[in-house]
Amino acid sequence: MFKPDLLAGKRILITGGGSGLGKSIGHRYLELGASLAICGRREHVLRETAEAFAQQFGRPVTFHVCDIRDPDAVEAMVGEIWQDGPVDVLVNNAAGNFIARTETLSHRAVDAVVGIVLHGTAYVTLACGKRWLAQSYPGCVLSIVTTYAWTGSAYVVPSAMAKAGVLAMTRSLAVEWGGRGVRLNAIAPGPFPTPGAWERLVPRPDLAKTFETRNPLGRAGEHRELADLATFMVADGSGYMNGEVVTLDGGEWLRGAGQFNFLEVMKASEWDALSHRK
Ligand code: HXC
Repeated sequence: MFKPDLLAGKRILITGGGSGLGKSIGHRYLELGASLAICGRREHVLRETAEAFAQQFGRPVTFHVCDIRDPDAVEAMVGEIWQDGPVDVLVNNAAGNFIARTETLSHRAVDAVVGIVLHGTAYVTLACGKRWLAQSYPGCVLSIVTTYAWTGSAYVVPSAMAKAGVLAMTRSLAVEWGGRGVRLNAIAPGPFPTPGAWERLVPRPDLAKTFETRNPLGRAGEHRELADLATFMVADGSGYMNGEVVTLDGGEWLRGAGQFNFLEVMKASEWDALSHRK
């Protein structure tokens, strides 16, 4: 689909890049010649991914243990990465989410999700953005949101609130920073199965199939399909794309908005059992 050296010379930071969708996007970026840095909270996960990538692609992948909810840790990480030169692309992929009846959430549960998704994404974007603007360096931000950022969705309310905020940040800064060479876009993926998300978001095995096939195409997305879109959007050839959100969901939200509204089929007893499974 792309020239093999499409991303050669690009330095790319992916938050949450040690696992899941971030890892798949990182793999594709490396295939196409980029230099990669990944960050996340779990050192062993990051180390394993960085070592496997380095072995496969024959060049080092740097990793940073960083909880993006901590602005000082974010600033320290981005400062350290910048010592070797500016990052060209930031992918805001790190997220936290779980399903719950909203009335059962504690304020700490709300903060856990909003802290990672909204605050953390803002901290990393600002840390990179300030540097790009100060250096008049052309930066690019790609944030992973969801279709319920604009439709809302039952049972994942803190995530919906936070993803809506990330989308608002994307559109706002696209205008504020666009004229100074920094462009920001987002992807809203539909069901792309990952162990982390599915463990937290799919409460019953039979509902996994419902979740994955309720889109008009009747199948889940393949990670490669998402990674290719993530490549297209950060490539120089897409330099005129700014403030856009591209949906990649097989048509899911058009068929019936609110990705987790289907959990209405869950009984109260099933929710009760789930709330003990933290
Ligand atoms: C109710 C819960 C809960 C649950 C945690 N809490 N899990 N409440 N139901 N299932 C509450 C806890 O009781 C606690 O409140 C508060 O949340 C913080 O919990 P911690 O475990 O201390 O937080 P932390 O270790 O920081 O974990 C953050 C997390 C966790 C978000 C809760 O799930 C996480 O680390 N997730 C990261 C990976 C992830 O979520 N991946 C999926 C992203 S998918 P109290 O009051 O008890 O102290 C995605 C897009 C989905 O975002 C799009 C559709 C496919």
